[in-house]
Amino acid sequence: MKFFVDTADTAEIKSLAESGLLDGVTTNPSLIAKSGRKILEVIAEICAIVEGPVSAEVAATDYETMMREAAVLRKIAHNVCIKLPLTPDGLRACKALTNEGVQTNVTLCFSAAQALIAAKAGATFISPFVGRLDDIGQDGMELISEIVDIYGNYPALTTQVLVASVRNPIHVITAAKLGADVATLPPSVLRMLYHHPLTDKGLAAFLKDWQGTGQSIL
Ligand code: E4P
Repeated sequence: MKFFVDTADTAEIKSLAESGLLDGVTTNPSLIAKSGRKILEVIAEICAIVEGPVSAEVAATDYETMMREAAVLRKIAHNVCIKLPLTPDGLRACKALTNEGVQTNVTLCFSAAQALIAAKAGATFISPFVGRLDDIGQDGMELISEIVDIYGNYPALTTQVLVASVRNPIHVITAAKLGADVATLPPSVLRMLYHHPLTDKGLAAFLKDWQGTGQSIL
């Protein structure tokens, strides 16, 4: 499973990229706003840190303007992935960009029908938002299960399931069990994946015993 980080905070991205475990980055207009920086500048900086796909979202809602915005965004770096909303215009832009060989991430997916039509439009990634479905009393992971099953029925479909709106490690593990291709995680959730109290306790005991030996490996 690939791990993307869902942030426009370049200091966080740099620090997480040092792990060597980061496969890409997703941003959205809210995350760009939170960064307080210009989109072109921040996406360029992220693309210089991470080799994998960096999703940059269009702000327009009509096809023509989306395509003009995509033309600006894709010039930033070879690894920019154009993020488009799951609307008729967004999917039309997705199809056109896919035909031009541009990577696309179709966002704000909340149903299996939407995921199916995004795959037909040739999306590189489909982003179902699990946390936001959970928030309204629906089962976000049930949607991931449905999409993975449906895509599995059509091996010719190349769209990757990118689990978004992830809120905790259980979302990540459940998505991995279901065979989702990618999860995009807030930095805090990505860091949580490392931790277990027994690891901390075990390490403290090993270090204490090691000190008692008076030895040094170096
Ligand atoms: C994904 O690409 C989105 O940017 C993100 O996962 C949305 O998450 P949220 O529901 O926590 O805002």
